[in-house]
Amino acid sequence: MSAQFGMIGLGTMGRNLVLNMADKGVTVCGYDRNIDQQKRLAEEGAGKPVQVATNMQELVNSLETPRRIMLLVPAGKIVDAVIDEVSPLLQPGDILIDGGNSHFTDTDKRIERLKPTGIHFTGMGVSGGEDGARLGPSMMPGGSAEGYAELKNILEKIAAKTEDGPCVTFIGNGSAGHYTKMVHNGIEYAMMQLISEVYGILKKIGGLSNAELQQVFTDWNTTELQSFLIEITAEVFKKEDTETGQPLIDVILDKAKQKGTGMWTSQSAMDLNVPLPTIDVAVSMRYLSAMKDDRVSAAAKYPVQQSNTATDKQQLISLCRNALHFGLLLSYAQGLQLLSVASTTYKYAINIAEVISIWKGGCIIRSVLLNDLQKAYKEDAALTNIIQSPVFIPILKALRNETAALIALAITNSQPVAALSASLQYFTAYSAAQLPANLIQGQRDFFGAHTYERIDKPGSFHTEWN
Ligand code: 6PG
Repeated sequence: MSAQFGMIGLGTMGRNLVLNMADKGVTVCGYDRNIDQQKRLAEEGAGKPVQVATNMQELVNSLETPRRIMLLVPAGKIVDAVIDEVSPLLQPGDILIDGGNSHFTDTDKRIERLKPTGIHFTGMGVSGGEDGARLGPSMMPGGSAEGYAELKNILEKIAAKTEDGPCVTFIGNGSAGHYTKMVHNGIEYAMMQLISEVYGILKKIGGLSNAELQQVFTDWNTTELQSFLIEITAEVFKKEDTETGQPLIDVILDKAKQKGTGMWTSQSAMDLNVPLPTIDVAVSMRYLSAMKDDRVSAAAKYPVQQSNTATDKQQLISLCRNALHFGLLLSYAQGLQLLSVASTTYKYAINIAEVISIWKGGCIIRSVLLNDLQKAYKEDAALTNIIQSPVFIPILKALRNETAALIALAITNSQPVAALSASLQYFTAYSAAQLPANLIQGQRDFFGAHTYERIDKPGSFHTEWN
């Protein structure tokens, strides 16, 4: 029997997606150059509609037409190498999907490169990690709408489901799918940084034990903060290290690693002149955390003056909850503004409300906050930033002062709160009718005759300052 779907790359994500498809009754053929991976799929797929190919030609021969083939191989040169190997074996109308975290500019190049062959190339973001792949990811396919029509049925079967339906939709033209996944990851970095800052405050200033922290995050997961990341954070606090018997969190080294997708979001935002300081800071703080030796050496030179700002525990927890709520909203605000600017600039034609809807399940940044975000973009599809939306005005007004109070407390106690501060500063500047940028214009004109605009008449002006 011909397979309905082919998978190249049987690592964690590829293998779990294959098994997910097979559970939904889709006949899948998997191929990986690594024989161990072939064997593993053969074992785990036993009794399911799973076939394993031992070479590329066999994979291609096993598929019904038009062929649907997904690549889940490490982003970069390997994607091109696999495309070079498989594409000569395909026919016009076949569909190649890159399901990895490829840079969107690479996806655009691949679409162009495959155009003369008539093969549809779909750049698709897949979120949700191993569990998501196995049980229901959120998927962000972009590129060829014609290609998507051939994939829709299968992708909808394997996607996570919410009250809105399957967490997959055609995102838009060209590299829209990979761009959207990149922004998802930028938001993911910001959310994780904000949560870590609040953890630092509760631990260092509030003196909360891991058991108390677990309880706080468990409680928060029943409030407006309910989300995948808050849920797993509670779980992290209760895990014991099997080697030492210590809480695992306390034996994990405080150096955060990254694969680069958060950095890409910041780089792209800079190119498009979109401010997203919470995401920028989240990326920078990962770098700073990685400079462990420098930090240890500097810490000895700058001993922290612990000020005695004993705060009521419950009050501190409440301040943290509100500040986190504020920071998380501002992270989504910044990411979504980037997405809408990119959509216009790159002619992606992304429907932001639909993106929010497919982020409500399966992905790493899923949260109940997305319900209000969806409402805001449904009310106004041309919304530039949720700060402007009537849905959020009362919420942000109510949270702003609490966030400022928590930041002040953290600063007095030398507790770093870069992302919380960036969120508040972004909001404060965004909602300021007057900024001191007139001075910058004066200085630019002074030393470089760069000209300035005036408040009282249109045009460009230059002054001889000396
Ligand atoms: C997802 C994640 C995933 C990402 C990891 C690692 O949506 O499932 O975003 O795609 O690769 O979270 O990211 P970093 O190593 O950069 O933290």
